[in-house]
Amino acid sequence: MRKQIAAANWKMNLNLSEAKNLVNEIISSSYGLNNDQIVLIAVPFPYLIEIQHLLKGNSHFNVCAQNCASTCNGAYTGEVSAKMLNELNVNYVIIGHSERRLLYHEDNKTLAQKVDLALENKLTPIFCCGEALETRDDENQNNFVENQLKESLFHLSAEHFSKIVIAYEPIWAIGTGKTASSDQAQEMHKHLRKVIEGKYGVAISESTSILYGGSVKASNAKEIFSKADVDGGLVGGASLIANEFIAIINSLK
Ligand code: PGA
Repeated sequence: MRKQIAAANWKMNLNLSEAKNLVNEIISSSYGLNNDQIVLIAVPFPYLIEIQHLLKGNSHFNVCAQNCASTCNGAYTGEVSAKMLNELNVNYVIIGHSERRLLYHEDNKTLAQKVDLALENKLTPIFCCGEALETRDDENQNNFVENQLKESLFHLSAEHFSKIVIAYEPIWAIGTGKTASSDQAQEMHKHLRKVIEGKYGVAISESTSILYGGSVKASNAKEIFSKADVDGGLVGGASLIANEFIAIINSLK
């Protein structure tokens, strides 16, 4: 069975003591998670070590970075390389979040480089994709998102592709309180799984985790995660509230 994942994306929020309190509250709850269910907490870079320390010994919980550089090393002030994350024993990194695409102009080609470096350094990329509202209004969302995958991921060998986690996050649903309906999420996830099958075959397509992101909260997680091709969620706002995120973790199937 493919992995079911509840991933928190804190973005640039919380001070360090708030961050530690939140994690302590989340891990003190009891969960009946099985081996195929994992929880990721994507924290700002400076918090990685402290939060990793708090999660130690808890096999279902892992820290995740929110980004990595598209270059190996060198004169890139302010950047953090995949290798540096690997040296900290970080195992996951979000790549291509729409905020990175829109605010920092990261294009599909740059994201392909990030994906390569992440994989070379043994990080699992949580690769984000998703369309803007105009694209959906034009009913072009399937082609648009499919193209994001093709341009950033389809150069990978089957072995490398099988390590990727995909997060479908329609931009119009991020931080807006407007969630895609569970049917809209399922429709896109199913489409992406078919596209992956066309390139890598049914075994890899069936074992690729595809998360939904965009205003996931305690009240809608169970319904969205219940869909056949939805393997959990990437959660922004609601992941900053302990009870919300605990309920979201408990909504994994
Ligand atoms: P949201 O953010 O849950 O606040 O909509 C999701 C994300 O940006 O990953």
